[in-house]
Amino acid sequence: MKKLNPAYFRVPVIFFIILGVMEYFIDSGDTPAFVKYPMVSVFMFVFLFLLIAIEITVTAINNITYQMLTAEEKVKVDEVANASIQDREWYQKLMKKLTRTEPIENEAGLLLNHDYDGIKELDNNLPPWWVYLFYGCILFSAIYLVRFEIMDGDNQEMELKKELAQAKIDVAEYMKTAPDLMDEKTVSVLTDPAEIAEGGTLYTTNCAACHRADGGGQIGPNLTDENWILGGGVKEIFHTITNGGRDGKGMIAWKGTLKPKEIQKIASYILSLKGSNPADAKAAEGEVWVEEVAQ
Ligand code: HEC
Repeated sequence: MKKLNPAYFRVPVIFFIILGVMEYFIDSGDTPAFVKYPMVSVFMFVFLFLLIAIEITVTAINNITYQMLTAEEKVKVDEVANASIQDREWYQKLMKKLTRTEPIENEAGLLLNHDYDGIKELDNNLPPWWVYLFYGCILFSAIYLVRFEIMDGDNQEMELKKELAQAKIDVAEYMKTAPDLMDEKTVSVLTDPAEIAEGGTLYTTNCAACHRADGGGQIGPNLTDENWILGGGVKEIFHTITNGGRDGKGMIAWKGTLKPKEIQKIASYILSLKGSNPADAKAAEGEVWVEEVAQ
């Protein structure tokens, strides 16, 4: 096996299998487990160290044992170690089991008396791998027939429809608990002063250039008055910030720059400016916004 599976192959393979298993079983959200939990990194490091140590020890022991052998035994060991896979006993046994071929010497016994212009026919065994594959197909078709034709199992189209329906439910469920993924349908006004203050900081960095630091408006409209061009509810403001204003007006879509949660904070901050009446604010634009009570 040494030839097929050298240490520099074996060690990384085992290491990455274990790493994969850890990632699979440890729930660490979007970040890999070994980043989120330093203990995992430590463990993997120790594990790698042990693997290498074991490899070194085993190789050393093998070398010593080899040195202690007599010349004759050495030849034997070398033979086994260097034999190609086809020469191995287990391989030959396996092949024999799978094919049940008769050795060429027995050919005479297999010969049928069919003779077509000198072309003769041997009565070989059907290879077991083929026979079992065939039985498998028969079994499969029987199960398939009963399940899909008699018991009316879901066909692919039905399966797809069901999965899509389930996915919709899952997404809705996820949206409820994942604030970073909210959209204009689920957004709500924040009331926590700390979060509104964060919104204020974001506003000053990104928006003040056009809407003025106090929201009074400059290039962009006044954000402190009752009038809104694109709607003044939290959902509408969230929509405007996310997707931008009307074409050519200068208000870009911010969804590439800001996270939904940040947009929610800014929107809440803007709403907190309502009625603050900053000095020489821009004249009102748009309609007076009335929140629909029906919502
Ligand atoms: C380059 C200048 C500019 C920047 C920067 C800018 N805006 Fe605007 N904003 C505008 C303009 C112009 C409009 C008017 C769009 C229209 O008329 O469709 C607007 C409209 C808006 C509206 C809708 C106002 C209404 O009356 O309906 C909101 C809300 C808004 N901006 C928020 C923001 C926020 C929040 C930021 C920062 C993340 C921002 N803007 C950054 C120029 C800007």
